[in-house]
Amino acid sequence: MADRSRWACRWRGIIGGASHSGNRRFPGGLGRASGGNRRARLLDSDIRNIVCSDPINTWNEMEPMPERRKLIAGNWKMNGLHAAGLELATDLSKRLAAAGTVGFDMLVCPPATLIHPVAQAVAGTPLAVGGQDCHVKPSGAHTGDISAAMLVDAGCAFVIVGHSERRQNHGEDDALVAAKAAAAHAAGLIAIICVGETLEQREAGQALDVVASQVAGSIPSRADAANTVIAYEPVWAIGTGKTATSADVAEVHAHVRATLAGRIGDPDAVRILYGGSVKPSNAAELMAVDHVDGALVGGASLIADDFWGIAETCR
Ligand code: 13P
Repeated sequence: MADRSRWACRWRGIIGGASHSGNRRFPGGLGRASGGNRRARLLDSDIRNIVCSDPINTWNEMEPMPERRKLIAGNWKMNGLHAAGLELATDLSKRLAAAGTVGFDMLVCPPATLIHPVAQAVAGTPLAVGGQDCHVKPSGAHTGDISAAMLVDAGCAFVIVGHSERRQNHGEDDALVAAKAAAAHAAGLIAIICVGETLEQREAGQALDVVASQVAGSIPSRADAANTVIAYEPVWAIGTGKTATSADVAEVHAHVRATLAGRIGDPDAVRILYGGSVKPSNAAELMAVDHVDGALVGGASLIADDFWGIAETCR
């Protein structure tokens, strides 16, 4: 089984500021801190106390926010047989290991049948493995479902919940997504909660309201930046080749960030991913948008060169 404690420690380190490298964010935009050593020495509990004691963030201009390390996540969806899946994951894990220190974390979410072999194949490398969905219960008479505990047992550190394909094809609503995220947290998984508007909703000018409502309704209690990632995936951009403009992405991500305040621990440290036709050719522009803390990639994550090319824009 994969060593999940490695990931838990790593995440605590990131959230707690232990991995601060000098690329610090400030309210109102990107910037570099001078004299940031004091913050770098603060403990995890210090950061938590500062942020959680006041959900309406009161960081002043001189206080650096926790760094958000980019997360490049591949959602393989219902793709991949044994040999090809192992080859892809092994290829990525070798590139990651050879790259040494990079500015991003990398995750693959294979179909359920491949989670365990992929986790075994990449064990001991920085490549993390996740599931694509989980049930709200830890076990029971739920034919065809998979529990968060089973994902952990198979080697997962993450699970995607509330993907629009689950919301649309399986009738999942915000309350169910929140319950799945809570189940993931209870099992020790990091939940990647997906939100995103349809084309009709965008054309009706409802994108911001829809996304904010999904975020508010899909976050369970006790969620924080260490156990939760948000993924904004406009439904009309998934698998279509259409990508939201940088301006649209910036507007929605800023709105998601504002919506997180008061609803989640360490709201400024929560990573918000963009997903929807991300490719090597558009990744650099998208990853440079403020409050875009990585990508959730579908089709391009099935091709090692393309997925690696996306990640390299965050190097
Ligand atoms: P594509 O990258 O294929 O558009 O899929 C995005 C997605 O749904 C990832 O979860």
